[in-house]
Amino acid sequence: MSDSNLFDKIVSHAKEYGFVFPSSDIYGGLAAVYDYGQNGVELRNNLRQFWYLSMTRLNQNIVGLDSSIFMHPRIWKASGHVDGFNDPMIDNKDSKKRYRADVLIEDHQEKIRQKIEKEIEKAAKRFGDTFDASMYRTTNPRVMEYQAKIDRMDQILKEGLESGNLNVIKDLIEKEGIVCPISGSKNWTEVRQFNLMYSTQMNALDGGDDALYLRPETAQGIFVNYLNVQKTGRMKLPFGIAQTGKAFRNEIVARQFIMRMKEFEQMEMQFFCKPGTELEWYNYWKEQRMRWHKALGIPKTKYRFHDHIKLAHYANAAVDIEFDFPFGFKEVEGIHSRTDFDLGRHEEFSGKKLRYFDPETNESFIPYVVETSIGLDRLFLLVLSNAFQEESVDGDTRTVLKLHPAIAPVKCAILPLVKKDGLPELAEKIYEDLRFDFNVFIEDKDSIGKRYRRMDAIGTPFCVTVDHDSLNDHMVTIRHRDTMQQERVSISALHDILNKETSMSSLLKSI
Ligand code: GAP
Repeated sequence: MSDSNLFDKIVSHAKEYGFVFPSSDIYGGLAAVYDYGQNGVELRNNLRQFWYLSMTRLNQNIVGLDSSIFMHPRIWKASGHVDGFNDPMIDNKDSKKRYRADVLIEDHQEKIRQKIEKEIEKAAKRFGDTFDASMYRTTNPRVMEYQAKIDRMDQILKEGLESGNLNVIKDLIEKEGIVCPISGSKNWTEVRQFNLMYSTQMNALDGGDDALYLRPETAQGIFVNYLNVQKTGRMKLPFGIAQTGKAFRNEIVARQFIMRMKEFEQMEMQFFCKPGTELEWYNYWKEQRMRWHKALGIPKTKYRFHDHIKLAHYANAAVDIEFDFPFGFKEVEGIHSRTDFDLGRHEEFSGKKLRYFDPETNESFIPYVVETSIGLDRLFLLVLSNAFQEESVDGDTRTVLKLHPAIAPVKCAILPLVKKDGLPELAEKIYEDLRFDFNVFIEDKDSIGKRYRRMDAIGTPFCVTVDHDSLNDHMVTIRHRDTMQQERVSISALHDILNKETSMSSLLKSI
């Protein structure tokens, strides 16, 4: 199956099984806005909870916050978003489609990267066991030439973005012969910058000077509450503030389903520390966040770090965690060492001192900040892409979501074998006992095989079948989603089994 086929399948599966619907579906949808259905909301809540608890419960010095979406407009001036939160855009004159110029270049680089991987695969087959891939990368002339080309493009893109000379980016697109994916032509406009913030009015009747922005990131809500939390929580450096919440960006080029949305959710943590210690904490959080991802049972080969080629002027280190989506490696999370830029600017713009007084040294200073920032929707797509599998079983295809049990929307389905003889009643009793601690589902429609398949398709890790013997021996058959193996267990053991296999606490312990 080609990767684009696989991606199409994942998107239709998400709709068919109640994970993600286009927003305003019956009105024809709204570009780049999505709703989460009955299974999507459970999976998303579980992912959010996994992130939030890992930050706050597992770290004595990290606390939560829920700041509002509307904030004082000067915040966005201070943060630099009013003047600098832009994307370099380019239009194709034939298709009239607009693209992010840097993304066109990155996609082109990815194609070259794939050529490198193909060369390496071919060589590995040719040389067999003795093959050393890393040596090949640094000695094979063709691979080295491809890599040099990628590096050159990085350099030009970086220079163009940093200097604001967007002509060099257009020249690069032309020189590389990058074509519009729709029209196939190279008939491009100039590259221009577009601001991504949505604005609205505080008072509908007023003129224009009460313009408000819908927040484009949750981080600023944390910065402006830094002092409130530090003082009321008597927090000592280093400490962190974590929050999850909606953010809005006018993404002109919305692409790839929930990968790039206009309304999305972020999970961000700002870690305040002493100046001079920030790079130590940056490395700590880089490793820590990768461990968190791997705890979800996703192979490490599907992740990579990607250092930012364009460091914001206030950052002294920044890296993305990228995931191998069906359309290639793309950013899912950013870890940024933001120095004292944000607090410093808010001090300047608000006129309020945002210093930390260190009782050990009797000094006061603006703390430095390391942030971790991940998109919940992008994480959702990541786990869905990783979990989606089609397997041949007895001449049939079973579609299964191999989600980590702790994040699966439904933990266990209770299935009476037939709709009579007291089996539905016993199933109901089991359901009633389990529902306080687990999201359980009960169903007596259709054959047991069809019911298993439906549960596989939404990633339910366990199915419990209640049969006639259950009435006498108080045992049921439990079926494991991934192996499809079945075993007979006592009804009274179900709670412990589900607790051991599906609880959030075991997932948290595995980080
Ligand atoms: N406070 C830092 C910040 O906002 P960012 O790299 O712009 O950094 C962080 O965003 C994360 O938010 C990204 O890694 C991505 O997962 C998510 N994200 C950003 N824009 C998004 C969009 N339009 N749709 C979905 N997720 C998005």
